[in-house]
Amino acid sequence: MVKYVFPFLLLILLITDSFAQDLPVTNVYNRLTHSLNGYWHYIVDPYENGYYNYRYEAFDQMDSPPKSAFFMDARQSSPAELLEYDFAKSDSIRVPGDWNSQKEKLFYYEGTVWYQKRFNDPRSYRGNRLFLYFDAVNYKAEVYLNGTKLGIHEGGFSPFQFEVTDLIKNKQNSLVVKVDNKRVKDGVPTLNTDWWNYGGITRDVKLLETPETYIRNYKIQLDPDNTGHLSGYIQLEGSDHAYKEVRIQVLNSQIDSTIITGSTGRIDFMLPAAGLRLWSPSDPHLYEVQISTMNELIQDNIGFRSIETDGSDILLNGEPVFLKGISIHEENPLEGRRAWSKNDAYMLLSWAKELGCNYVRLAHYPHNEHIVRLADQMGIMVWEEIPVYWTISWDNQQTYINAENQLSELIFRDMNRASVIIWSMANETPEKPERNSFLGRLAEHARTLDPSRLISAALEQENLPGSPDTRTIEDAFSEYVDVLSFNQYIGWYDGTPEKLRRVNWEIKQNKPVIISEFGAGAKFGLRGDPASRWTEDYQAYLYELTLQMLSEIPQLSGISPWILADFRSPRRPLPGIQDGWNRKGLLSDKGEKKRAYYVLQDYYLNGYER
Ligand code: GCU
Repeated sequence: MVKYVFPFLLLILLITDSFAQDLPVTNVYNRLTHSLNGYWHYIVDPYENGYYNYRYEAFDQMDSPPKSAFFMDARQSSPAELLEYDFAKSDSIRVPGDWNSQKEKLFYYEGTVWYQKRFNDPRSYRGNRLFLYFDAVNYKAEVYLNGTKLGIHEGGFSPFQFEVTDLIKNKQNSLVVKVDNKRVKDGVPTLNTDWWNYGGITRDVKLLETPETYIRNYKIQLDPDNTGHLSGYIQLEGSDHAYKEVRIQVLNSQIDSTIITGSTGRIDFMLPAAGLRLWSPSDPHLYEVQISTMNELIQDNIGFRSIETDGSDILLNGEPVFLKGISIHEENPLEGRRAWSKNDAYMLLSWAKELGCNYVRLAHYPHNEHIVRLADQMGIMVWEEIPVYWTISWDNQQTYINAENQLSELIFRDMNRASVIIWSMANETPEKPERNSFLGRLAEHARTLDPSRLISAALEQENLPGSPDTRTIEDAFSEYVDVLSFNQYIGWYDGTPEKLRRVNWEIKQNKPVIISEFGAGAKFGLRGDPASRWTEDYQAYLYELTLQMLSEIPQLSGISPWILADFRSPRRPLPGIQDGWNRKGLLSDKGEKKRAYYVLQDYYLNGYER
């Protein structure tokens, strides 16, 4: 037996090594960073000619890669020399930003684009460490600095970093990134999705400067089991991390403690914290938290609140709360592009606020950090998820490691954000044993990293046997989740709106229920009979009947209808109606309010029952 075990373990080690990423440093957002945003040179490389030779051998697997490898960022050094690329003479593209919306020839492009940027060592003190930090690159990034491969990251929506302290030069550092947005069967997501596959360095890029021994990670929150205390941990990293004093101050509170790290540089703490002003949508109070050591001080703005369930109630700070939500894609529809900026985040959350929301579902992948930090400030609760979507390769170990890695990166980035109350493991995935164990492992991993938030997933629903108009949730994964969520499209994909008058729900689980999606398509300005598809009237009528039907579910604790605004999708070609857009938005791609917008707004402002 032993002889079969070893190769398997070796395989696991090899696979994990390809995803052995540095988990993100906490709160890069407020640290000493130097932005690399701006215009980078780029080369479109559909045949990956800058990566493989004509025998299809990878240049970066060679002991001394030739100058023809694009990551060598070479320049012609003599008139006789043959070199068939030159970044300095190549076109430029803005970072952050997807290439599809910036370059008309790349609108549908799925493949490799090489990015190149030269920069000087920005450190204020040469003894400091330097990390190259990407907020996101969709989908697969291979990163090279001065011709040396730093590593690979797979997953288009979560942060990753590489330490470059020992590779940095004083001047003219060559940073080259191979970005490949091809969809792959064993990827996360897999081949089929209902959103545009925007490729590129789609979010901020920065150089993080830290002392040699620095505050690497920390989590500070109201203790889930004892809300009169703050608990969490602090992790130092560096040659001098052991037995070091760390001071935690929560300004404008009585919390000011100095604690000592252990031999590994980590200290877990529990601090008395009576009388804190708790974070909530009605009072999104953020404390200024300062964490300091002898040679570093980090500032963060953190809200303290508790989130838990009690039977079918979701309790925020011990009080039942109804999640008046809306689903959102990370897209600025007015400009038809990936959203990435603070302004984009402010526009999307302001639309949600005006709709009457206290909650948003950030679908179907981690959004940028700006929108989560803004949700903290605006008092909007958040559901975040990783793109374990539809038909993932459930029995592929590398697929699982990829999904888990994206989940870890998301949790490490946002575990101090009060607005984030739910981690969702998946969306509309087919119930079968290998999917249940895949999601079960993910849920356990999420609880290990962060036991303080609620776990959910958009589960499957079905009819009670012999009762075509009685729906129930028999999905085995419902045992794992804290909140029972599911998408339902009765009246759109499932019959017409009249069916909503007949259907009832028999949900036996004593857990809070969130309807994570419902909706209908409507072309803004198309008016007519409520029985005519694509009219605003059909969509509004469906919303009216759906809200009536859902209000009959006693465990109903929230809804996040699909979706705030029309969004691009290659699955939606219907001429004159869709034209490459999914039209289920309550707002058009120009931000115009459809009739259903007002139905939901009225429900949130005047009508919802809890
Ligand atoms: C599904 C899916 C969404 C999709 C929506 C639709 O529920 O979760 O990603 O866009 O339905 O078909 O519009």
